[in-house]
Amino acid sequence: MTNYSISPTALPLRGSLCAPADKSISHRAAIFAALADGTTHIENYLQSETTHATLDCLRALGAEIEQRDATTLSVRGRGLRGLREPDAVLFCKGSGTTMRLLAGLCAGQNFLSLLDGTPALKRRPMARIAEPLRAMGATILGRADGKLPPLAIRGGNLRGIAHTLPVASAQVKSAILLAALYADAPTRVREPSLSRDHTERMLRGCGVELRIANGETHINPGSQLVIPNSQFAIPSDFSSAAFFIVAALIVARSEIRIERVGINPTRTGLLDALTRMGAQIAIENARAESGEPVGDVIVRASDLRATEIFGAEVPRMIDEFPILAIAATQARGETLVRDAQELRVKESDRIGTLAAELRKLGAQIEERADGFVIAGKTELRGARVAAHNDHRLAMSLAVAGLIARGETIIEGWECVADSFPEFDAQLKRLT
Ligand code: S3P
Repeated sequence: MTNYSISPTALPLRGSLCAPADKSISHRAAIFAALADGTTHIENYLQSETTHATLDCLRALGAEIEQRDATTLSVRGRGLRGLREPDAVLFCKGSGTTMRLLAGLCAGQNFLSLLDGTPALKRRPMARIAEPLRAMGATILGRADGKLPPLAIRGGNLRGIAHTLPVASAQVKSAILLAALYADAPTRVREPSLSRDHTERMLRGCGVELRIANGETHINPGSQLVIPNSQFAIPSDFSSAAFFIVAALIVARSEIRIERVGINPTRTGLLDALTRMGAQIAIENARAESGEPVGDVIVRASDLRATEIFGAEVPRMIDEFPILAIAATQARGETLVRDAQELRVKESDRIGTLAAELRKLGAQIEERADGFVIAGKTELRGARVAAHNDHRLAMSLAVAGLIARGETIIEGWECVADSFPEFDAQLKRLT
């Protein structure tokens, strides 16, 4: 286990940086390239544990993937119906996105696939994908009556379904949409509020008939995926940029610019919440790249006040609650988060672990079944805290360490490699 030590910075954060490539879009770009005919170049593919897990699984399913240089991949796809039965277990490491999206893909294949992962992934709920995929006709077995990994999937001969997700989830929605490409009739998916829509954008971009009407996504079975210009360009991950956005807000006199960040509105709930809190954040050079909105984010240190987050805003910032919590400790008043019970089944139980670790730093946080309340503004004090194998919790605690009095030591820092291996190097460039 690696420890990370951080002490408050005397200097403001200044300069510009590029956050790492988007994790969600990287997984999807690799999957779509593997399903296309011919070779696709993926520029700025995320180099991380989880996105490498997806590449290894796709290789086992027959795609030929080559790392061209530090960030560019070339993927020789097998066509929608050309994948082959893997002769070993598809090992998803700790990646929920890999397991859930590939489960949808494998449900469409007329062969056996076995999906497994790390002990942490084996605790993540899979009934949410297994049930709709079974309704489409796939056979899915798993531990605990088919609810937990490992999963065994025998797919093929799928039918179209109409499915309503009990909770907004892009992973579940994407698993169904991938399986729907192989169904004998159209599929309809409805979610209580919109989760990230990268899969829908890519499917449409690749020529699949998909439309959204009255909050319901309709998708027709596919015959071929055509990737425009055989190229994907992946923007920086808003969820990784978020750590630096909050760091610049709370370290006095800071001003930073984060370049080429994905600003898809289904991902930027944190920007709306922080703006209500009084944050000075501007977007410049807004443009589109490979079907995704992108821009440069400029952030200045700001006096923050509390806000409330609930309802449809929750899925739009589902990965940003740990870092929002750090901002809330520096905001005047009570910040309330509710309707966010999904946080309990992320890389860690993010309500429980956040409350436990933030308290060690002196924060006033009250845990609720579906969220938390943080009273601010509090002067944080350095302490020994634990990452709980959760990359986003680890990096949020590091940002708290930038303003906490004395030394903060984060135990289990190695999990940061799941999404942002260069976090420390990027932080040092700004201080
Ligand atoms: C993701 C969707 C979200 C998010 C995860 C990545 C994706 O999960 O928390 O980090 O790439 O589709 P849910 O769909 O389970 O909310």
